Amino acid sequence: MKAVTLLGKDQIVIQNDYEHHKTLGAHDVEIKIMACGVCGSDVHYYTHGRIGPYVVEKPMVLGHEAAGQIIAVGSEVKHLKVGDRVCIEPGVPRFDSPETLAGCYNLDPELTFFATPPIDGCLCTSIIHPAAFTFKLPDEVSYYEGAMVEPVAIGMQGATKAGIKPGDIALVYGAGTIGIVTALCALAGGCSDVIIVDMIDSKLEVARSFKNIHALNSQRDDVKALIDELTCGQGVDIVFECCGAGPVIANISQYVKAAGTVVLTGIPLELPPFDIVAAQAKEVTFKTVFRYANMYPRTIRLIRSGALDIKRLISKVYDFEDAVAAFDRAASGSAGDVKIMIDCANA
Ligand SMILES: NC(=O)c1ccc[n+]([C@@H]2O[C@H](COP(=O)([O-])OP(=O)(O)OC[C@H]3O[C@@H](n4cnc5c(N)ncnc54)[C@H](O)[C@@H]3O)[C@@H](O)[C@H]2O)c1
Ligand SMILES: [Zn+2]
Repeated sequence: MKAVTLLGKDQIVIQNDYEHHKTLGAHDVEIKIMACGVCGSDVHYYTHGRIGPYVVEKPMVLGHEAAGQIIAVGSEVKHLKVGDRVCIEPGVPRFDSPETLAGCYNLDPELTFFATPPIDGCLCTSIIHPAAFTFKLPDEVSYYEGAMVEPVAIGMQGATKAGIKPGDIALVYGAGTIGIVTALCALAGGCSDVIIVDMIDSKLEVARSFKNIHALNSQRDDVKALIDELTCGQGVDIVFECCGAGPVIANISQYVKAAGTVVLTGIPLELPPFDIVAAQAKEVTFKTVFRYANMYPRTIRLIRSGALDIKRLISKVYDFEDAVAAFDRAASGSAGDVKIMIDCANA
């Protein structure tokens, strides 16, 4: 079968003779991949050959944001059948780990995640995957939207952990893919308004196209003034930190109201300084996000309902054969791009 394979730093090839060497277990399904999104982590492995301790030491198939069609089901699979259109949750925990049994399977230290060395990703012709981590797409939800469920689920985890109440006002710092999907999830979760902040205008333009998202450039606009105006000077109910920038994290408590909530989703590259006293003075509640658990069904339902209108986040679609160009575009950092999608139907 075909696969988009990272050989090492700066080297991606389209392989024609890839084998995943898995056999269909009783609780597995086999899926013909139809669409796969390009994620910042794929691009980072491409440009750096590693992310922290995860080093690409042998060829690795890329991709973890995928949707497809079921082509075979294991003997014990009840909720899926051949022909179903599905999306794929890429992180598979041990089913009997303490974390899984506690309901936070995303925290299982032995969880395997597509396209994290040495585990191959799913940007290939077909995969075998546990049925429990494979979710049926309603007819109204396209394969491209199905592939987008993965990054949106991170926003859903943040919105859920924030404990949004109807009519809350939120601030999202960072208008990259994660910031924008988090803003949309905050609105879908009941926020009346979301202020989103970035330093790059083309990032903010996409965010601004959504109703009730106020997009501000931190280098030009007065963020504090808009927060004061919308909240009568009290501060926002919730801040979602989605840029991972040290100076932003250090002073994140300045925007939130007394006894408000800050959700830390951005991952700083270095240990950031942090103003503890400012947080204490407001008794801020901090929540942290590591991917997601149990978010796929909810995300799919909100995409179907229209509450999460994510189609316009797909900036450009490439054919599977042009996958290297797709990664090159993503690596070039075209600022207006939110999500690059690869159509795998002909792979
Ligand atoms: N917790 C998780 O499970 C999880 C999952 C995926 C990504 N992440 C993290 O979330 C963050 C966002 O991911 P992404 O894919 O959207 O990245 P991205 O690079 O596309 O977006 C980050 C945005 O933050 C903006 N930014 C950076 N510094 C800023 C500053 N000082 N002020 C204002 N804006 C600033 C950038 O211009 C950019 O638009 C990253 O740190 C990433 O590692 C976390
Ligand atoms: Zn991703």
